[in-house]
Amino acid sequence: MESIKLDITKATQFLNPGTIEAYAPQVAAAQVALEEGTCAGNDFLGWLHLPSSITTAFLTEIENVADTLRKKCEVIVVAGIGGSYLGARAVIEGLNNSFAWLIKDKKNPTILFAGNNIGEDYLSELTTYLKDKKFGVINISKSGTTTETALAFRLLKKQCEDQFGKEFSKDVIVAITDKKKGAARITATQEGYKSFVIPDNVGGRFSVLTPVGLLPIAVAGFDIKALVEGAKDMEKETGTDVPFANNIAARYAAVRQGLYAQAGKKIEIVANFQPKLHYFAEWWKQLYGESEGKDHKGIFPTACDFTTDLHSMGQWIQEGERSIFETIISVEQPNSTLLFPHDNENLDGLNFLEGKRVDEVNKMAELGTRLAHVDGGVPNIRVSVPTLNEYYLGQLIYFFEKACGISGLIMDINPFNQPGVEAYKKNMFALLNKPGYEAESKAIQERLTSDK
Ligand code: PA5
Repeated sequence: MESIKLDITKATQFLNPGTIEAYAPQVAAAQVALEEGTCAGNDFLGWLHLPSSITTAFLTEIENVADTLRKKCEVIVVAGIGGSYLGARAVIEGLNNSFAWLIKDKKNPTILFAGNNIGEDYLSELTTYLKDKKFGVINISKSGTTTETALAFRLLKKQCEDQFGKEFSKDVIVAITDKKKGAARITATQEGYKSFVIPDNVGGRFSVLTPVGLLPIAVAGFDIKALVEGAKDMEKETGTDVPFANNIAARYAAVRQGLYAQAGKKIEIVANFQPKLHYFAEWWKQLYGESEGKDHKGIFPTACDFTTDLHSMGQWIQEGERSIFETIISVEQPNSTLLFPHDNENLDGLNFLEGKRVDEVNKMAELGTRLAHVDGGVPNIRVSVPTLNEYYLGQLIYFFEKACGISGLIMDINPFNQPGVEAYKKNMFALLNKPGYEAESKAIQERLTSDK
């Protein structure tokens, strides 16, 4: 099997000679700390050897539950947010037909997502859409108490029971949550739902290769064994025994840190030239944003879909403040072939493209963009993927996870916690007068009154 590849040559040209190699000792120390569990956040290192520890029997169990949902439902709503949502969506949208939901006679259920926002219109439109559909729900929450997800799940559970009765609902609602704690676990036990456990030592944004990602991906009809195999191979390829010169996760971590610390590049744009990768970049944003953005440090992770965003963000990238670098995820071979047709009249003047694959035009757009952006002072990293399938997405997932752990430790932060996400929740609960938040409610009301 081939592997994904990393090209950092168009980024290192912005750094002093030898910068990347100079990171080798720090990278090695970070890798040892991860392996030995001596780093900050060491109670959340379950992801590190997760791919090689997943058994075939476990994957078969997930596939069996997925089959039940697939047989009984035409629509599955995956309720979850953040790490309990983005990985599944990244893989499903990365592999699905772009028009999956419009295709009739589908062999796979339609996968919809909820619990990742509090939009009243969104939830109202979703529940209306589900009114005449045979639907099931995968309720995903590690804490089991996240407001966005719990709110959506309450609505969906009620609708499912109202439409199909409690007995049928038991067969089509699955919970993925903590083994003991939280409302999602209590509900699953009380209602008798099939459930899976999110391991204690795997944080949300590192959990796509647990049932959190694997069950929805299997329900959508994709091969979770191949996904895990890809991740497992990347686990080997990025291990501590792989020399720095050949270790792509180590080198990606090093080049990011070099660009940040030496070249003052504070923003990383992950860009793709395949719209199917939009949600992969959303997953990546969360992985790096929640892992690195702390102690007033961290590269700000953002994303663009090219060529679409070259017509919106392209100007800024080419000529705006020189605080950015770019990481392009490039897919070498699309799964389909579409040739550009001949036109006798050639009114659009495009006959020079006749007989070419659309992807050839896309590849020239990509190369042209890389060169232009480098000329404009934007360091460029390229991660190339042979083709979009489960195996290579598995590789890509593990590659970014491993690099993220190393990169965070080089920055001397705890890459595995996310204390900052609690601040908005505390205010929201205080404003909603949630029981237990009486003092906060009083304080926030006083603050709002004095702000007037
Ligand atoms: O990465 C994380 O830990 C977070 O993004 C969580 O996944 C997110 O907040 C959802 O939490 P929970 O799974 O507890 O509902």
